[in-house]
Amino acid sequence: MGHSYRAAGVSERFPIAVLVSGTGTNLQALLDTVHGREAEVVAVASSAARAPALERARALGIPTEVFARSGYEDRAARDAAMADWLAQRGVRLVVLAGYMELLGEAFLQRFPGAVINVHPSLLPAFPGVRAIEQALAYGVKVFGVTVHFVDAGVDSGPVILQRAVELPDASEPEEVLAALRPLEHALLPEAVRLFTRGALEPDAENPRRVAMRAVEG
Ligand code: GAR
Repeated sequence: MGHSYRAAGVSERFPIAVLVSGTGTNLQALLDTVHGREAEVVAVASSAARAPALERARALGIPTEVFARSGYEDRAARDAAMADWLAQRGVRLVVLAGYMELLGEAFLQRFPGAVINVHPSLLPAFPGVRAIEQALAYGVKVFGVTVHFVDAGVDSGPVILQRAVELPDASEPEEVLAALRPLEHALLPEAVRLFTRGALEPDAENPRRVAMRAVEG
């Protein structure tokens, strides 16, 4: 990637959007931590009209909008409408928090180097849907969470943060999810904090490697 990931000034709250599809516990973690501090959640977009995540945003008076795939001619039209809505709100970082749709290249180009995602596996293992079920079926003993930049592939962008947990006897998805939740809820806000501080930049030697830069404040 030929650009730096950062864009922040440190004196203002950094306007971010959160994209959701479901329950929204990761959105809630952002609302409880970085929102109103280093960042301001200025928009929450959902792929599903009935996502409980929307209520979490509405409870704080944050603008919400639904961009259901069925409401548009194709995915590109949906992406374009959503990108317009986010850009109108001055969004400088797009956070995928349980957003279960793929975003096309055109959307990503509207927010270059500024779309991040949380995924419930240690990527590159188990990308895509039902990651926890995939990991259980494989029989792994170590599970984990990845926060990464989003590229046009499926969960294939540069890794920002990862954390693992050993669960050698796990057999049920619910049990693994319960162990991963606290990791997700710590790592996603931490990645947002690092981004807004301008602390993330691609390693010059290998742009897949996200280097952490020490930044004051
Ligand atoms: C989270 O576990 C997140 O990692 C996962 O969906 C869940 C959403 O929970 N995302 C993916 O699987 C993306 N491929 P939430 O709605 O409670 O934040």
